[in-house]
Amino acid sequence: MRLIRAKDYQDASRKVANIISAQVILKPDCVLGLATGSSPLGAYSQLIQWCEKGDVDFSKTKTVNLDEYVGLAADHDQSYAYFMHHNFFAHINIDPNNTNLPNGTEADAAKECSRYDKVIRDLGGVDLQLLGIGANGHIGFNEPADAFSTGTNRVDLTASTIDANSRFFENKDLVPHQAYTMGMMAIMQAERIVMIATGANKAQAVYDAFCGPVTPQVPASILQLHPDFALVADEAALSLVGDKL
Ligand code: F6R
Repeated sequence: MRLIRAKDYQDASRKVANIISAQVILKPDCVLGLATGSSPLGAYSQLIQWCEKGDVDFSKTKTVNLDEYVGLAADHDQSYAYFMHHNFFAHINIDPNNTNLPNGTEADAAKECSRYDKVIRDLGGVDLQLLGIGANGHIGFNEPADAFSTGTNRVDLTASTIDANSRFFENKDLVPHQAYTMGMMAIMQAERIVMIATGANKAQAVYDAFCGPVTPQVPASILQLHPDFALVADEAALSLVGDKL
């Protein structure tokens, strides 16, 4: 793995945006694997600015998002489809038909998981996957477990994830308890992976994921095995790592 040290969130966001724009410039019809949450917002807004200036062109780019809450329709203001539209897709020149997320309203999990796996397969897999990391070490919504997931799956969110994500909802009772998430296989099969981790609340997860053993109890630890993985992290997120990486 490659560690890219950043001063702070803004610096990390710019570094991640540079990696994504380089990918799109080198291969305009690439497949980007995208994430939601707070971590990628700065990179998205930087990419929006560059797109507006004409420096990066998303007209041929395709995207697959990591995850979606079960039960939320795309027009629900807490759905990840809504998040992606409002924070990124609506402001860049991407063709909405080239953007993909799991369908949170599909009640038949087996059907939705195999549909989404086929979407990823038919696109030829992911060229560059962007990840955040949960405070419990999750990637996508692959929560700590006894075994690594493989394909897209429907997961029960842990109490700590529900807690962490309740900040986006009016109250904690409204946070869905399940999500569809891309599995470890599609994530690990991406050609390149970049993770953004910033802030002191990610320090323990970063330490456990990259200074400890590979274990499904810390899902992000599997990234240690990826041949082209870069971690972009600020000083606060690296505070426990020190110079161990
Ligand atoms: C979101 C996702 C999650 C987040 C993680 C960190 O699509 O896949 O794994 O990346 O929960 O969330 P933030 O960035 O809000 O701290």
